[in-house]
Amino acid sequence: MSGSMKVSRRSHVPPFAVMQVLAEANRLRDAGASVLNLCAGEPATGASDVVRRRAIELLESGDLGYTEALGVPALRHAIAEHYGRWYDVEVDPARVAVTTGSSGGFLLAFLAAFDVGDRVALARPGYPAYKNILAALGCEVVELDCGPETRYQPTVSQLMEAYYGGGLDGLVLASPANPTGTMIRPDELAAVAAWCTDHDVRLVSDEIYHGIVYDEGSSSRTSAPLASRGGSAIGGGSPTAARYTRDGAVVVSSFSKYWAMTGWRLGWLVLPDELVGPVDALAGNVALSPPALAQHAGVAAFSPEGYAAAEENVARYAASRDLVLSRLDDLGWSRVAPADGAFYVYADVSGDGMDSVTWCERLLAEAGVALTPGTDFDGVHGRDWVRLSFAAAPTTVAEAVERVVAWRATLQR
Ligand SMILES: Cc1ncc(COP(=O)(O)O)c(C=O)c1O
Repeated sequence: MSGSMKVSRRSHVPPFAVMQVLAEANRLRDAGASVLNLCAGEPATGASDVVRRRAIELLESGDLGYTEALGVPALRHAIAEHYGRWYDVEVDPARVAVTTGSSGGFLLAFLAAFDVGDRVALARPGYPAYKNILAALGCEVVELDCGPETRYQPTVSQLMEAYYGGGLDGLVLASPANPTGTMIRPDELAAVAAWCTDHDVRLVSDEIYHGIVYDEGSSSRTSAPLASRGGSAIGGGSPTAARYTRDGAVVVSSFSKYWAMTGWRLGWLVLPDELVGPVDALAGNVALSPPALAQHAGVAAFSPEGYAAAEENVARYAASRDLVLSRLDDLGWSRVAPADGAFYVYADVSGDGMDSVTWCERLLAEAGVALTPGTDFDGVHGRDWVRLSFAAAPTTVAEAVERVVAWRATLQR
């Protein structure tokens, strides 16, 4: 009887709580309620017109068969050039692997870099898929408790403690991070990368929110095309580990966030030489190739029009971020992670006298606003925190803030 057959132990990974919130939000919306969704980490706009137009041309005339396992040469070149443009770093296209979203990139990078039993450190709070993929692959996850004193980013002293307390084979770093949006400073990234190289610890740097960074007083962020900023200004705000790939670091990135191409399932890795062959072999076996249509059309994302459309989105996020941050007092959110980048505000709601899962359930049921409880990102302190995504349309974000403020007033009565 198939129901009694074994299910692998490795597949027992926890589901995303955000998916349950999303399902409930959709149910309420289908039942006619007005629901504002600020739980998904997903841009409200889709791919830029230039990418869509190229996709239509390709659908009509293109060869959309399997591609090279590491991606089509034109896209690997365009990605390599992007590193020159944004960070002034020379990347050999041969070290670029195009992947099925950054999610597919993580799987390949972890498979290529780590063995069963290897110990890999990551920040808590953090994006849950890292630890769930690592656990499914039989790696031991070492959670580093990261708080406001280090901008929720890991430090060399935490790494030393993990290293001398049981050994360490890898570190996953994310900057800007999800759920906090916080960024690591360039000198700290350099110190962490050097420490990792010296101790044979593989650094895997998640850079999928690069380009979505804010200066203080962020509404000053312009939507001017990249060319008028002298090239490196945008990426220059976020230090890249691509500088350290020759020393063993792996960079993971994606078209999902800055280029708003979530469903196209397109991402990439910048690899150190020794991982190119293994990732090529693994990628060919696991997926044959990343999606052909997305790859060919994705080249257009690196055109001036593609960057300009992305910058318009970032300007909208900046305005929404300003709006949320200007209402923190009204929201009663006094402990908030510094929202340096990405499109999240991570706030402590424990002062409202309920855990964050209940808080989110009630907010959705009573005010029609969907936020994500911190339990997805932090198994220890997450019951105190919620994540608000301001990637939705600015009018949606504004109305949602009003509703949260009004809902909290009903709690205090
Ligand atoms: C920090 C982080 N890394 C990776 C991903 C995966 O994105 P994708 O597979 O669409 O590139 C996400 C998605 O939300 C994320 O927040």
